[in-house]
Amino acid sequence: MSRGGYPNETIRLLHGRASVRQFADRPIEESVLNAVLDAGVHSATGAMQPYSIIVVEDPGTRQKLHDIDGCGQKQIAEAPVDLLFCLDMRRNARWAKLRNAPFTATSSFEEWWVSFQDVIICAQSICTAADAMGLGSVYIGTVYMHFLELREFFDMPEGVFPIVMVCMGYPRGERPEPRPKLGRDIVVHRGSYREPSDEELLAAIDAKHGGKVEPNERRLSTIAEVSRRVGGAPLEKRVLGDIRTRGYINTAQVIYGLAYRADKGVENNLEYLEQLSEAGFGWHEEYHLNDE
Ligand SMILES: Cc1cc2nc3c(=O)[nH]c(=O)nc-3n(C[C@H](O)[C@H](O)[C@H](O)COP(=O)(O)O)c2cc1C
Repeated sequence: MSRGGYPNETIRLLHGRASVRQFADRPIEESVLNAVLDAGVHSATGAMQPYSIIVVEDPGTRQKLHDIDGCGQKQIAEAPVDLLFCLDMRRNARWAKLRNAPFTATSSFEEWWVSFQDVIICAQSICTAADAMGLGSVYIGTVYMHFLELREFFDMPEGVFPIVMVCMGYPRGERPEPRPKLGRDIVVHRGSYREPSDEELLAAIDAKHGGKVEPNERRLSTIAEVSRRVGGAPLEKRVLGDIRTRGYINTAQVIYGLAYRADKGVENNLEYLEQLSEAGFGWHEEYHLNDE
C-alpha cells in the first residue's frame, strides 16, 4: 500500500471526495471541461444514453438558475459552470421516427427507470472526473421544485426532463474534508439481506448524524404539525412525549420533522405526475397497445 494507505490513486480520490460549495473566481479551461464531460458520456448505459447535459457558463444565466432555485444556494451563481442533467427521450424518439421504428419509451416505466439511472451514473462519472482534474462539485437536488420553470427556461421540448444539477469549479481555499458516512459494516450485506438489531442501527446512524437540537416553540409546533398530519394525534403525542422526556429534539426528528418535512414530502406526488404528463411522459397513465 502506498499513497497514505490507499492501494492506488483512484481509491484515494474516491475516499477523499467531498462536495465543494465554495469556488475560486477562475474559469474552467475548455480542454479540462471537455475532458470531464467526455468522461461522463463514456459511462455505462442501460438504455440508449437517454440524457442531455445543459452546460451553463454565462454568469447571468447562472444567477437566473440561482434565483429559480430560490433556496439561497449561492454556489449555483458562484460556480463557473453549472450542469443541468436531463433525462432525454426526445433524441431517441426522433431517431426512431426517422428510422421508421415503433417507439413507446416515454410511456414506459421500464424505460424511465433505466434512463433515470443512466442520467445519475453519467453525472457521478462527471463529478469523479472533475475531482481527478482538481475541480470540485456539488449536486443540486432541488431541481424537482421547479421542473416546469426549468423546462421553459431552457426551451426543453417534450420528452426532456430535468433531473439534477451539478455546480462545478476550482475549489476556493482548502478542499473540504470527507464527511462521515455509514460504513461497510452497515450498508453492505453479504449473501442476503441482514436486519441489524435496533441498537446496532441506532449506533450506526447516530454516529453519523447524531445530535441534539434545543426545543423552542417554533420547532415544537412545526414538529407537532408534521407528526399530526402524518400519523394523527397518536403520533404527535408520541413524538412530543419523546422530546419532552429527553429534553432535546433528536436528529431523526430534525430531519423528518423540520428539514425534509415528512408531510411535504408526499403532498405534491400527484402534481409531479401531472408535470411528467405535461413534459410528454405517460408511464403512469394507461397505454393502449393495439392487441386483438
Ligand atoms: C441527489 C443529491 C442532491 C443533493 N442536493 C444538494 C443541494 O441541493 N444542495 C447542496 O448544497 N448539496 C446537495 N447535495 C450534496 C449533499 O448534501 C452531500 O453529498 C452530502 O451532504 C454528503 O456530503 P459529501 O458530498 O461532502 O460527502 C446533494 C447530493 C445528492 C446526491
